[in-house]
Amino acid sequence: MTTSPLEDRLSAKLAAQLQELETAGLTRRRRVLDSPCGRLANVDGKEVLNFASNDYLGLAGNADIAQALADGAMRWGAGSGASHLVSGHLAPHEALEKEIAAFTGFPRALTFSTGYLANLAVTPTLAGRGDAVFADKLNHASLIDAMQQAKANGADVQRYPHNDMAALEKMLAASPAAHKVIVTDAVFSMDGDLAPLPLLFTLAERYDAWLVIDDAHGFGVLGRQGKGSLGHFNLPASPRILLMGTLGKAAGVGGAFVAGSETAIEYLLQKGRSYIFTTAQPPAIACALSKSLQLIKDGDALRANLMARIGQLRDGLADLPLKLLASATAIQPLIVGDNEATVALAKALWERGLWVPAIRPPTVPPGTARLRISVSAAHTEADVTRLIAALKELS
Ligand SMILES: Cc1ncc(COP(=O)(O)O)c(C=O)c1O
Repeated sequence: MTTSPLEDRLSAKLAAQLQELETAGLTRRRRVLDSPCGRLANVDGKEVLNFASNDYLGLAGNADIAQALADGAMRWGAGSGASHLVSGHLAPHEALEKEIAAFTGFPRALTFSTGYLANLAVTPTLAGRGDAVFADKLNHASLIDAMQQAKANGADVQRYPHNDMAALEKMLAASPAAHKVIVTDAVFSMDGDLAPLPLLFTLAERYDAWLVIDDAHGFGVLGRQGKGSLGHFNLPASPRILLMGTLGKAAGVGGAFVAGSETAIEYLLQKGRSYIFTTAQPPAIACALSKSLQLIKDGDALRANLMARIGQLRDGLADLPLKLLASATAIQPLIVGDNEATVALAKALWERGLWVPAIRPPTVPPGTARLRISVSAAHTEADVTRLIAALKELS
């Protein structure tokens, strides 16, 4: 790589920090896929079994969804042309919002271009000066950034130890805040475990708090018809809940939604900066998502296969010296601990044609580097058998 003297001078500090990352073995590199997202990935002419994506139902490469996208583009064009509040809210966006509201059981939903933007809209809009935010320590980075924004707006923010309801209750009881907002992942993205949503809901009621739930990894996967974590726990679509779901994981396309009461969603629409100040997603994406939603609803067979593969993996790895975290979801983390050992194990799997990402600090706490095995409904029994055999051989 050649650099100019101007670049060298301007970027000296950046280059030094990049070098630090390199020295610590923390530089991240992208792999370029020469195939659609699916059970197999083609990378640099090599075919690997893909345990790295969040495509839990195997819908990312679904031909019917791709067709809906193509048809949508022919009917509605390539782009939306503006933000939703200016002129970018087209009929497919409106239809998708209604479909999501009906599916989740909330009165209203709002769609966003990404889950990151959806999370950035919710917490800082609900909580400002005089209010308080209570967030799980293991929440996703986008919720953490949202919490920091709420803090910048004057909210008191507190983080409770992971899933520790007693600690959370103490914080809620001690807080004099006018409005309280509890924020949690429903399925934790690096651990795969579930938040105790019924207990969180009880605390939210007891302390009259909002409950913001990020169901990025539960939507489409858990509950009847894949309605997500609320369905899994039989929780009501209460006005005190704001439910965020992403549409680029199990739904296989991209984007996100927030569902809630009429008033809360109208408030987000009027005040959510990451809703207002960004171009609406291309309408064809909404067309693809309408199709995806239908496949999710009708996807009991996909979910049954996913659950069978998860069970197979857990049974198969039960005797391994390395341990899987206690997760019943598609995210199955195998804890290795040491950073280098984790990377070495991922590399050895890769050499055997198995793509399982190594996750290291700062994404996870120090000493808990892991392989994050993502199981998908697209995987076959033989695929999971291959992964189990390789892990047994290597550990
Ligand atoms: C828990 C969680 N929330 C939010 C997001 C962000 O969603 P998106 O990828 O649509 O921006 C992700 C993953 O990317 C996630 O894992």
